[in-house]
Amino acid sequence: MGFITGNPPLTRPDATFAAPTEIKHGIGKVSNLTIELQLAPDLAERMRVAIFTDAGVAAAGLLDVVQQAFAGSDYAIVAVIDDVPPESDAEFVKQAAAKLNEREASLIVALGGGSVMDTAKIAAVIAAHGGEAGDYEGGFMVPGPITPLIAIPTTVGTGSEVTLAAVVKDNARRRKLTIASPFLFPRLAVLDPNMVATLPAKLVAWTGFDALTHAIEAYSCVEREPISAALALAAIELIADNLEAAIQEAGPTEARAKMQYAATMAAMAFSNSPVGAVHAIAHSVGALFGIHHGLSNAIALPFVMEFNLPAVAAHYAAVARALGVTDAGQSAEAMAAAGIAATRALKQRCGVPAQYREVGVPTDADTAAAIADLTLEDICLSFNPVKGEREEILALVARAL
Ligand SMILES: NC(=O)c1ccc[n+]([C@@H]2O[C@H](COP(=O)([O-])OP(=O)(O)OC[C@H]3O[C@@H](n4cnc5c(N)ncnc54)[C@H](O)[C@@H]3O)[C@@H](O)[C@H]2O)c1
Ligand SMILES: [Fe+2]
Repeated sequence: MGFITGNPPLTRPDATFAAPTEIKHGIGKVSNLTIELQLAPDLAERMRVAIFTDAGVAAAGLLDVVQQAFAGSDYAIVAVIDDVPPESDAEFVKQAAAKLNEREASLIVALGGGSVMDTAKIAAVIAAHGGEAGDYEGGFMVPGPITPLIAIPTTVGTGSEVTLAAVVKDNARRRKLTIASPFLFPRLAVLDPNMVATLPAKLVAWTGFDALTHAIEAYSCVEREPISAALALAAIELIADNLEAAIQEAGPTEARAKMQYAATMAAMAFSNSPVGAVHAIAHSVGALFGIHHGLSNAIALPFVMEFNLPAVAAHYAAVARALGVTDAGQSAEAMAAAGIAATRALKQRCGVPAQYREVGVPTDADTAAAIADLTLEDICLSFNPVKGEREEILALVARAL
């Protein structure tokens, strides 16, 4: 019997695994970006560069590093969109798309966390195909290619640098919309530990838990397949071994470099084996109360694992082993429960709150109902191993509050 997975049967008669993004990893890769671009035949002639970033990333000096990388080269930086809002915004992406067309950008560099990378992706879609973000909501709604995107992640969570997904907040409707399309895979992901050296400890913890959630949800979703499963388990082990050290010490450390790999691997997994109820709840709380995506996931994660346990005990037992729980031959259910306890303990050691009330979310019945209703509409819920009627989802949300 397989030591980690227990050699489970295949759960799907057919599956697709796609991870087309080229990945470059190493300290200083961003400073040498133009060399990397010149080595790629499909990118070498694309000289009109638009850079997306946000105020925090720019203030950390990372925009300077990118601009410096292009200085004195034949490339022209035709636009710098450096005020991407947190968790993005449907109106903002439309304006950014207009700027891409007006400046005739032929290459997009997204420097930031998920908010920046997703904004760049959706702006590129609108620039190429018109309309607005809502027109492309759901799966396979983007009709064709977009301007090639170079993703430089500066957090250790979303993995948007290698995914087919983008999430944008529709502030007018107070909800988040998810767009998934193979045309959203970035062309190149540059994982440079210098880019996460300045990430504040709290954000290492929150985004690290986003990556852990991606891996656990991908590993236990209804569309799980073995290549994603392998990536998910490796990511869980990397996170268990490195998240705390990455929080404790800033700089381009080995622990932070490994967290970059973990986030990217977990994202390759969930791009092919989608996330579930944790993300559905986290999106809903995030849209209603502006809670950071990773923090929102971290809070919901153990509650959803308890909810799902009866359906996926063997999967969670494997998760527990990857988290470092000793298997002394206990039942899958006991191992799964130990895995959930280990997740809670890791959260506590990383300073992540246990419930939403600790970050200011009200606990009244109307709030629980509003979150549950949004959760039921979220596309991610359809991939969760337990479906749940409205009453069950409502009770789950109430426990997390
Ligand atoms: N596309 C996907 O596949 C996918 C997956 C999961 C989440 N998401 C989305 O990603 C968004 C969240 O992204 P995130 O968690 O990466 O956070 P973020 O991009 O919102 O960044 C959080 C904060 O960290 C700051 N920051 C980022 N990097 C920094 C650095 N190196 N130094 C100093 N400050 C830095 C930013 O300025 C910002 O204030 C949400 O909108 C979420 O829905 C997308
Ligand atoms: Fe996520």
